[in-house]
Amino acid sequence: MKKIVIGNWKMYKNISDIVKFNEELNQLIDPNKEYCTYGICVPSIYLSLTKFLFKSNKNILIMAQDAYFEKEGAFTGNVSWSQLKDCNVIGSIVGHSERRQLFNDTDEVINKKTKALVSNDMLAILCVGETISEYENGLSKKVVLNQIEKDLANISLSEIDKVIIAYEPIWAIGTGKVPTPEYANDLIASIREKIASLFSDEISKRIPILYGGSVNPSNIKNFLSTKNIDGALVGSASLEASKFFGLVKEGTF
Ligand code: PGA
Repeated sequence: MKKIVIGNWKMYKNISDIVKFNEELNQLIDPNKEYCTYGICVPSIYLSLTKFLFKSNKNILIMAQDAYFEKEGAFTGNVSWSQLKDCNVIGSIVGHSERRQLFNDTDEVINKKTKALVSNDMLAILCVGETISEYENGLSKKVVLNQIEKDLANISLSEIDKVIIAYEPIWAIGTGKVPTPEYANDLIASIREKIASLFSDEISKRIPILYGGSVNPSNIKNFLSTKNIDGALVGSASLEASKFFGLVKEGTF
């Protein structure tokens, strides 16, 4: 399987930044060359613009950062999976730790968002990860496997193929601190075991599982070279076109 590099722009960038990013990236990326699978999750208000700007690059996946589970309704401020789909957006992050911590997205809500996306043939990049105190208390596996079980409840065998998991230890996000690749690989191995018990051995082997948290062009290969890590979800290092291209280049092997 090709490695996967997904940027997460969070609540950064305005129109002129996106125009500049696109111009710079187009200078660097050759649309006829084979790279790893790559994409960016952009703020929902700029999804259509970003898709339009990147139209000459058929390979870049443009996705959302969150998707509400209802199709439509009186949910002021939310953007639904069906509105994303209407804009030809193929998928979204769900359960990012910033959504869990700052916007109280519970596992129940994250499960509904995941289900809404995958049952409507969209991709869900499901983020899981432990806090620093859970890490220090040796609870990482327990916490993460519990999130996996709750967030993937009632997902069918056919729907699970639309799920990408991102293991993002919260203490590594935006901090410059990274776990050792062995630690991340080992934790992801236990996510695979959990997926095997919830779904099947086959699925546990093929489900893409990314690592996220302070990934940059210099350290990405250490993570992607391990047995269990299929790719990376990257925040700050995805904001500059040159760094994003560096991630894609390093992720292509
Ligand atoms: P970071 O963010 O790469 O800036 O640590 C990762 C994420 O939040 O997905």
